Amino acid sequence: MKDKLILKDKTFVPYIKNEDIEKAIDAVALRIENDYKDAKDIPIMLCVLNGSVMFCAELMKRIEIPLEFSSIRLASYEGTTSTGVTRKVLGLTTAIKNRSVIVVEDIVDTGKTIVDLYNLLIEAGARDVKICTMLLKPEVYKRDLKLDYVGMEISNKFIVGFGLDYDQLGRNYKDIYILEGE
Ligand code: IMP
Ligand code: MG
Repeated sequence: MKDKLILKDKTFVPYIKNEDIEKAIDAVALRIENDYKDAKDIPIMLCVLNGSVMFCAELMKRIEIPLEFSSIRLASYEGTTSTGVTRKVLGLTTAIKNRSVIVVEDIVDTGKTIVDLYNLLIEAGARDVKICTMLLKPEVYKRDLKLDYVGMEISNKFIVGFGLDYDQLGRNYKDIYILEGE
């Protein structure tokens, strides 16, 4: 782990060691494997790009039951009306009608992304949708949607690493770093 991570104009310092992230992933993987090992339908593990790519890969390596993989990318943009930010879906590559889906997210903050995605999957006809997130900021998350699998809870601070970015940078580091001074 580096003492300091400088990404553009910001400095980040060590926060969560890779070893601890891996332990959290072991625990989540075990729970998912147990919950789905006797399932009649093969689940689809849905990786929410780009942030979840590292987490999803690590998770899948640990789950030794048949499953399918798919990915989705969400892009936010300013709406043309004053209603604010809307989320748009780019490329759901697998038909999910009547399927059982496990959404794999890097982090849940306000929950807007995950709630929008959940609704979208239900509208697209998914039979069952479970949410799996590596990290959760419980101080910020105030939605009713149940988060089925949570790797770790963290405080309301800005972090990078293990898939998470600051302005697209920092995703490749295997440890998690926090903004200096936080
Ligand atoms: P939400 O819609 O507010 O829950 O935000 C979720 C998305 O915001 C995540 O998928 C991340 O892409 C991003 N995000 C939230 N917190 C952080 C952070 O601390 N570092 C980097 N990205 C974050
Ligand atoms: Mg994300």
